[in-house]
Amino acid sequence: MKDRISGNEISIVLERALKEGIISGSDSSALFYDITFLQERFNEIKKIFPSDALHTAAIKASPFVNILKTVNYLGAGFEAASLPEIYLAEKTGCPGNKIIFDSPAKTIEELEYAINLGAHINADSLEELQIIDSIIKGKTTGASFGLRVNPQAGTGRIIITSVAGEYSKFGVPVKEFRNEIIEAYLKYDWLRGIHLHVGSQGCPIELLLKGVGTIYELAVEINKKLAPAGREINIFDLGGGFPVSYKPDEEAPSIFEYASALKNKFPLLFSDKFRLITEFGRFYFANSSFAVSRIDNIKKQKDITTIISHLGADFLIRRVYNPEYWHHEISVAHNTGAIKTGMPLSEYVIGGPLCFAGDVIAKNILLPTVENGDYLIIHDTGAYTYSMWSRYNSRQMPKVIGYFNGGEKFVIIKERESLDDILKFWS
Ligand SMILES: Cc1ncc(COP(=O)(O)O)c(C=O)c1O
Repeated sequence: MKDRISGNEISIVLERALKEGIISGSDSSALFYDITFLQERFNEIKKIFPSDALHTAAIKASPFVNILKTVNYLGAGFEAASLPEIYLAEKTGCPGNKIIFDSPAKTIEELEYAINLGAHINADSLEELQIIDSIIKGKTTGASFGLRVNPQAGTGRIIITSVAGEYSKFGVPVKEFRNEIIEAYLKYDWLRGIHLHVGSQGCPIELLLKGVGTIYELAVEINKKLAPAGREINIFDLGGGFPVSYKPDEEAPSIFEYASALKNKFPLLFSDKFRLITEFGRFYFANSSFAVSRIDNIKKQKDITTIISHLGADFLIRRVYNPEYWHHEISVAHNTGAIKTGMPLSEYVIGGPLCFAGDVIAKNILLPTVENGDYLIIHDTGAYTYSMWSRYNSRQMPKVIGYFNGGEKFVIIKERESLDDILKFWS
């Protein structure tokens, strides 16, 4: 399985895209997705988990409908964290029973919508279970339900995306509420699923396994108690959060290792006792994409040369605010699209386009000498970049282009926003 898009592939793709006019003068920046890479990732996942597992893609990582349509075509479902994300999933043709609704902020109307659709809904609290009970009491429903439990396994390297610490705003903490959780399963005969999510980037495999282990033991214990009633938890949603590598010299964690450790440690998850659900986002999307920004503005002051990029904090919000945690490799390509290699390096600051001094995506970065008309390449931008776009300064969201087989074929995933799109947004 390919770890990332190589510099050589980027050169070929960008050269072709420029030659064929896929990106043109008004595209001061653009985002490329390697659709073949995405297809390979989904196909690999299917091979290493049980064949009846439901693999869902976390929409929040990369919500482009045309990409989600590919995901649906490959047989995967969706993890939706809001009503609009459910709507996006539906628009791909995905059936309701392949949509997982996870959110700590569901309204009654949203719950009703998801229930009518027949989605799988993970309640975020014991209180939400009561609300669901009052909605579905006396009715038959095609929806299924789980409870998100915080395994309190600990936090990873990046606190703001770690959700299995002692305190988290998500889920029901297992240590304080073990008895209440068990009682809820005894009380609600419609509650057949259990859900956890430990975190995202910065969570080592051991931490993910620790979280799964805690919830697995809990599920097995609850199933013993439910046995006399002829019921059981039979849906185990192990969440998402598989980390990837953003640095070429840093080995990517192995999803094969994770799947085989899950199978060895928690064999029932790979048996017909449970239907497994996964909710990966970053794993599918992050390394499948790169972004380009044409260099139009280079400024020199004393001994500092600043490149102004067309993509800054609007696109890379996490990187700009927390550069020590959110790395992206950056390279420079000639105006033809070929990445510059083997040239002497100089030091640059790369500023973003937005009206605040902190919009800087790299300081003291060594790059081959840049010229106006060159392209900055920002690597591994497929997850939690465009989906976290900031509207500050009302800059136009760039064109998004998909390609197949190393650039043999291009498709437009989303056009660059027009001025009227911006007007509509603010009107
Ligand atoms: C409940 C849930 N599932 C899945 C994901 C996807 O995580 P990742 O993209 O790291 O796999 C997230 C991310 O925030 C999440 O909160």
